[in-house]
Amino acid sequence: MLLFNLTKHNKIGLRNFSSVIKYSKEISINGVKENIYIKENFPSSFVEKTLGNKVIATLGYGPQAMSQSMNLRDNGHNVILGVRKSENPNSSWMKAIRDKWIPDQNLFEIDEATNKGDIVQYLLSDAGQIDKWSIVKSNLKDNATLYFSHGFGIVYNDKTNIVPNKNNDVVLVAPKGPGIFVRQNYLNNDHVNASWATYQDASGNADNTAIAMGFAIGCDNLFETTFHKETTSDLVGERSVLMGMIQGAFKAQYDLLREKGHSPSEAYNETVEEALRTLYPLISDKGMDWMYENCSTTAQRGAIDWAPRYYNAIKPIIAQCYQEVEAGMEARIVINANSSPDYREKLNDDLNKIKDQEIWQAYRVMRNFRPGLKKNED
Ligand SMILES: NC(=O)c1ccc[n+]([C@@H]2O[C@H](COP(=O)([O-])OP(=O)(O)OC[C@H]3O[C@@H](n4cnc5c(N)ncnc54)[C@H](OP(=O)(O)O)[C@@H]3O)[C@@H](O)[C@H]2O)c1
Repeated sequence: MLLFNLTKHNKIGLRNFSSVIKYSKEISINGVKENIYIKENFPSSFVEKTLGNKVIATLGYGPQAMSQSMNLRDNGHNVILGVRKSENPNSSWMKAIRDKWIPDQNLFEIDEATNKGDIVQYLLSDAGQIDKWSIVKSNLKDNATLYFSHGFGIVYNDKTNIVPNKNNDVVLVAPKGPGIFVRQNYLNNDHVNASWATYQDASGNADNTAIAMGFAIGCDNLFETTFHKETTSDLVGERSVLMGMIQGAFKAQYDLLREKGHSPSEAYNETVEEALRTLYPLISDKGMDWMYENCSTTAQRGAIDWAPRYYNAIKPIIAQCYQEVEAGMEARIVINANSSPDYREKLNDDLNKIKDQEIWQAYRVMRNFRPGLKKNED
């Protein structure tokens, strides 16, 4: 444990003892100790001292780039955007102009913004990052920090070719939620948790920069990780419990109830509505044990007995998913699919197939009957 605290392994070798660890708080879960970095435990001047008047160049203007750059701007930092120029009203360039970024003042093309940045936030889509890497690499200043919100491009650099120069610091701050959540929470005087990591510490100051950036974009609690761990857990999570598995499980139960003669409204209520509106919020607020305790003894008995059967059935599938993610097979699929010129049309076709499933048709009708909710217009 001592060795772990004093040195940290990353792909370029051993990193010196982090100067920020003295402000961290140690937590222990079942005897496993971790250090977390909480904004209020740092000196109030930490962010200002670390970032000073450095130029932060945010590349892209998707949900993460929009939210992070707006939060940085509202927090008084020196932010510019790097976005590909377009007159399409749906393009990032035009969105940025609508958000009061001004061409040639704080809105530039990607190469120019990269060239001006002391900290370059590489927040294009993961496929866009591959496409623009040669431009970004050749325009990155010698001592600039390259910043990511997902480790994908670096971890799979045998496929992405994103290999930064050795003289650049390379860090990650990955908010635990989509970009829009980062902005909305900031506007509501709240914050979002994030993980952070240093991949390459050329300056000896990369940890400070990562943590200061995390606080500056509106993430007050930062959990240390590595690029590799962030990437594998993120890819497995979204393929499994967060998205893939939940859609598979909801649809399996809904379809089975329908095959057994239950009406759409009943199949929907017992599958989606009760889960999302009553039981999952209870799990979020008070934990699974508390939710179980507050259901009927009939429900408790059944759920206690059936949970291990699902565990045994599902864990091998998650293990397979993890193995395919680690082996780079999922990265290959994502890169191939999202690099093709018609990727958006193909993705929309797949999304429309989900939209057309009876379970989600039922959702659009049934949500009109939620107490206290506005009627939808679909
Ligand atoms: N940690 C987290 O919780 C979390 C959550 C979400 C995302 N992320 C990460 O954050 C990064 C950004 O994701 P996002 O969801 O905000 O955005 P996104 O939708 O993945 O990316 C959209 C942006 O990329 C630009 N782009 C795409 N291809 C391009 C190309 N070939 N050349 C130039 N620009 C291109 C788009 O510009 P145009 O409008 O011009 O097409 C747009 O500005 C990704 O690395 C993602 O994995 C992290």
